[in-house]
Order: sequence, then structure tokens, then C-alpha cells
Amino acid sequence: MSRGNGLSAAQQPGPLCVVGAGYVGLVTAVCLADSGVEVRLLDVDQTRLALLRSGRSPIHEPLLDDLLSKVLRRGRLVLCNDVAEAMRGARMAMLAVGTPPLADGRADLSQVRAALGEVVANATESDTVVVIKSTVPPGTTAALRALCRRSGRTFPLCVCPEFLSEGSAVKDFHHPPQVVIGGDDRVACERVARLFEYLDAPVRITDSTSAELIKYGTNSFLALKISFINEMAHLCELTGADVQVVADGIGTDSRIGRAFLGAGLGFGGSCFPKDVRALDMAASYHGQSFWLLRAAVEVNAQQRSRFVAKIQKALRGNLANKRIAVLGLAFKPGTDDIRAAASIDVIRHLEDLGARVVATDPVAGAKAAAQLPFTEIVADPYECVSGADAVVLVTEWPEYVALDWRRIAPLVKRHLVIDGRNCLDGEALVAAGFTYISMGRAVRRPGRPAQTDHTLRPELLASGIG
Ligand SMILES: NC(=O)c1ccc[n+]([C@@H]2O[C@H](COP(=O)([O-])OP(=O)(O)OC[C@H]3O[C@@H](n4cnc5c(N)ncnc54)[C@H](O)[C@@H]3O)[C@@H](O)[C@H]2O)c1
Repeated sequence: MSRGNGLSAAQQPGPLCVVGAGYVGLVTAVCLADSGVEVRLLDVDQTRLALLRSGRSPIHEPLLDDLLSKVLRRGRLVLCNDVAEAMRGARMAMLAVGTPPLADGRADLSQVRAALGEVVANATESDTVVVIKSTVPPGTTAALRALCRRSGRTFPLCVCPEFLSEGSAVKDFHHPPQVVIGGDDRVACERVARLFEYLDAPVRITDSTSAELIKYGTNSFLALKISFINEMAHLCELTGADVQVVADGIGTDSRIGRAFLGAGLGFGGSCFPKDVRALDMAASYHGQSFWLLRAAVEVNAQQRSRFVAKIQKALRGNLANKRIAVLGLAFKPGTDDIRAAASIDVIRHLEDLGARVVATDPVAGAKAAAQLPFTEIVADPYECVSGADAVVLVTEWPEYVALDWRRIAPLVKRHLVIDGRNCLDGEALVAAGFTYISMGRAVRRPGRPAQTDHTLRPELLASGIG
């Protein structure tokens, strides 16, 4: 896809400087370069830049490697470590730096402030527009705009939040639900909109605080849906219902929809957990207690404890020296990101209870190893499950869904599978001789009728995991 040549010189968007070559910045830079925009991609991380210069992506993201090679080969994407070089002649700067959580849950805006300071100090054009792509709390863009004005820098400052998901980032970039642009300078917002008009997505231009809240509201609402269905899953276990059937029934109502009603280990990753907490903190700052958000976070944490309790109960309460095989470390399939991943909490908790954990992941093993010094990490899932007392599925990678359980049956010590994502074929597992435990559904055992688990131990649920 490339943009038409029908734009006048004043309408041409580039050159564009993208600051931050992370999940959002790299994907945005590569996709916009592929669309025909002249892009400079700036990062402070020299290792990351060196990898990119060699044509390799520092992150695992489907379709990204080919697109990266293409735009580098065609000279459409220039990699920079010097902000002056990146900003020379740039008519737009897009900040895609991190906004990680502070200890109290507020968004840490230090990277955004630093990047903004650098780009405005190095802008060479009088009509440069600065765009915040990072997720920032309500009021941030307006406050930074005022800060720039006070210091005599009067560049139009817009916010254009990103809605892509890791694991499908390139596809999501090309098919966004909408493009949201917030700012007080209509002309500047329209220039930003032109960058994305080739995508054929609806464009919403609004004030910057509303744009910021659309982003937080979207992620938080999706997180609420996940926590809601996980609470329903727990109730299904207590009452003998099947959460899959319940979710299908609820989700069939078009006012609700089936998406994000998958019961399981809950949400993780670099966005949902931090954005829900940051929105709660933003509400608190304005004197509001946003109880729903707190409940979503609480339920999400509890879900991980409940899962460990399930494993412990399945092994008759004793995890000491049990070999637990964990399938999946990434916070979701399709990515190597392990930020706030359920795997890390679950494995640490299992190890605290005395288990020996061996884990595997198609791409996230190396990143996870740095956080899991006591965990054996292997590449091959069949090696991972060998000798296991229990096989635990944490990330629903397609390769794990497609595992051959008849081949696994003679490799394990005990025929026990606990599926944290409700993605395995229970019938196939039972046919291969396994006891199959999942989330919000009856336990299935070979030769026995399906049985609901009414007896999770409350003291384990209350123990929390660190
Ligand atoms: N990851 C996602 O799926 C996703 C989706 C939507 C929105 N977001 C938001 O987008 C923002 C970026 O997220 P991410 O996951 O891409 O972050 P990331 O941590 O993967 O990448 C940030 C990059 O910015 C670089 N950087 C920091 N300060 C810099 C500076 N002054 N100059 C140049 N480079 C600098 C870092 O070295 C790093 O490479 C966050 O606000 C996040 O909430 C993320």
C-alpha cells in the first residue's frame, strides 16, 4: 500500500521523525515508510539500532521482518541515534516512547517529556507538528502544550493514540478500528489525519483530553470484560455451569459481543495492566474513586492465584519437588513480550511452593530467563513435558494447541493437564489418557463423567502471589 501522488507540497506529510523504536514506534515507522512517507526512526538504545541496521527486528511481530527489510532496502526508513539528524527538515515528529507504570500506578511520563524536549529543541522547520503516540493520561497533552508555550516553543502538539495489539501489530496498524487525533489546532490535526488516510479507517478529530480518554477507556473496558468473564468462570465452577457456553450465550447478544469474553488467566502485557491502573490514578487525582477499575485489577491478580491453587489441588496439595511443565511464557501468542505476563507470576508462585518448573515458549524464552533464574527453559515442548507431574498451559500459542497428546502421554510422569486459556481439546486429551482441568468448566477424567470442582481451598486463593 502506498499513498497517491495527488498531494500538494504543503500537504505532503514528511519527512517524519518517529521517536522510540519499540513495539509501537517500530511498527508505525515501518508501516508509514512502506506507505511512501520518508521516515527517520530515532532511538537511544544502540543495541536495538544495531540490530535494526542489520535488517533484523528487535521484537517478534508477524510480518514485520519482511516489511522492515523492504523499507530499509528502498531507503524509505533511516535509522538515527542523533536527534538533530533525525529532526533536520522533519515536518512532523511522532513520540512513541514508553509510559511505564510508577510504583503507585501513575504513568511515568519522563520519557515523553524528555523526547518532547529533544524534538522541539532540534526542530528546523517552522511548521513542524509534534504528535504523541504514547498512551498518556487525560490532560497530559494540554499540560505539555502549555509547557512548550511557556518556554517559547509554539509547535502544534497533538495526540494520536495507538490501538494496535502485540502479536498482530502490523495487521492492526493497517486495519485500525479508527484513527483518533486530539488537539486544539485543526490544521495540525488534519495534517496528522492525512498520514493515515490511505488506511481507509474512520478518523475522529477531537480535543486532546477526550482522545487520551478514548485510549484509556478502550483498554480499560476490554480489561473489565476479561475480569468479568473470569469472575463468571469462578461462579461456573461453583455452580456446575460451563463458562464457554455461558460466554457464547452472553456474547451472542450484539450489545455485548463475544470478543474479550475468553475465560482464562486474565490480562497481562505492557498495556492493559498499566493503563487500567493509570486511569484509576488519573480519576483519583480528580477526586473520583473508579471502583470498577480497581475490581478489574483485583480479579486479574486473583485469577493467577486461583490458577496456582488449581494446580496445587490437582497434585493433592503438595508441590514440593513436583516437576511442572509450563507451556508459554509470552503474555500472549505472537509476541516475545513478557511484561506483566501471567507466566512470570505463576511460575514464581509455583517455585515458592517448592515446584521445579521447566518452561518453553516459541520466542519469549530468552527474555523470560532473565526474570526466572530458577526455571529451566527449553526450546522444545516435547522436551519440556518429559517427566512432568503436571503440564500447565499459560499462553495459547497455536503450536501448543496442535500438540500431539498421544505422543506426549508416554513422556510424562502423571497424566495431568491444566489449561489456563481453555484452548486445548479436552476430548482429545481425555482420549489420550489425561485428566484435563480448565477454567470455569468441569474437570474431565478418562472413563469418568465430567465433574465440577466445588472445592478450591479458600486459604490458597487468599494467599496472593508476588
Ligand atoms: N506495546 C503495545 O502493544 C502498545 C499498544 C498501544 C499503545 N502503546 C503505548 O505506546 C507507547 C510505547 O509503547 P512500546 O510498547 O512501543 O514501548 P517500548 O518500551 O517497547 O519502546 C519504547 C522505545 O522508546 C525508546 N526511547 C525512550 N526514550 C527515548 C528518547 N528520548 N529518544 C529516543 N528513543 C527513546 C526506548 O529505547 C524504546 O526502544 C506506550 O505509551 C504504550 O502504552 C503500546
